[in-house]
Amino acid sequence: MARITAGVGSSHVPLLGVAADQGKDQDAYFKPIFDGYEWTRKWIADEAKPDVVILVYNDHASAFDMSIVPTFAIGCGERYAPADEGWGPRPVPDVIGHPDLAWHIAQSLILDEFDMTIINEMDVDHGLTVPLTMMYGAPEAWPVKVIPLAVNVVTYPPPSGNRCWALGEAIARAVNSFGEDLNVQIWGTGGMSHQLQGPRAGLINAEWDNRFMDGLVGDTQALRSIPHIEYLRETGSEGIEMVMWLIMRGALGKSTKCLHRHYHVPCSNTAIGHIVLEPVDGTVPPSPTLEGNNAAAQSAIS
Ligand code: DHB
Ligand code: FE
Repeated sequence: MARITAGVGSSHVPLLGVAADQGKDQDAYFKPIFDGYEWTRKWIADEAKPDVVILVYNDHASAFDMSIVPTFAIGCGERYAPADEGWGPRPVPDVIGHPDLAWHIAQSLILDEFDMTIINEMDVDHGLTVPLTMMYGAPEAWPVKVIPLAVNVVTYPPPSGNRCWALGEAIARAVNSFGEDLNVQIWGTGGMSHQLQGPRAGLINAEWDNRFMDGLVGDTQALRSIPHIEYLRETGSEGIEMVMWLIMRGALGKSTKCLHRHYHVPCSNTAIGHIVLEPVDGTVPPSPTLEGNNAAAQSAIS
């Protein structure tokens, strides 16, 4: 049986990709940021060793633009190349998918009444490649398969935090019903507080960010009900990226334990945050519809 064994939250600031690619991660400005990921790099390589990461992220007008804006999209392809974001693609390996698990998750989510967009071909931008760099450094090939799960947080209206949490629960149900033994992690990326443009550019709210990280731990579900306007007002226009962390948290079930946590200001125009969570009681509520829809689908094809 496949299982979700851990959740990771991380910012995806593109400057960190540039720093890593240019060997500047030990420069005075970047060292405290990269140092905060050291624990995780050791843990993931020596102990956690996931087979697959479901990488919840957002595209920044690289794969999608205003011609198509999927709210939730799942990558079912074999591989994804790093996107050219205006100065050439990052010199990092292609991301290798896990089509069998991805299609299984797509089916389970859709029968669970989450109407996913299915993507078989796309390039992936800093939203996906920077978290990989922070966790794995600069290997020849990424040592893990990745299922990209893209969320619209770029164009209004993004999904609610509550819907994101519920999607996480549905992802856990999907993974739990996959027959092959797989060690699966889920990562929620983006954030933390930041606003990149306009009169409030540079806004950072460390107190709010830390309260948000507190709320990911234990068995509280208080973060589900934060309205969009609170993210915008308290954490800046791009702080809305944090709803993606709630998909990760929802997939970890009832209760979590924090293994590692890191917060640093500044990084570009943002605060960066990072957390590693383990499920304590991974129970997720049953779906009101999945079983019935699955049975109907099975009988239709048999
Ligand atoms: C920047 C871009 C992002 O997408 C983000 O989430 C944080 C920072 C930047 O351009 O600095
Ligand atoms: Fe971003």
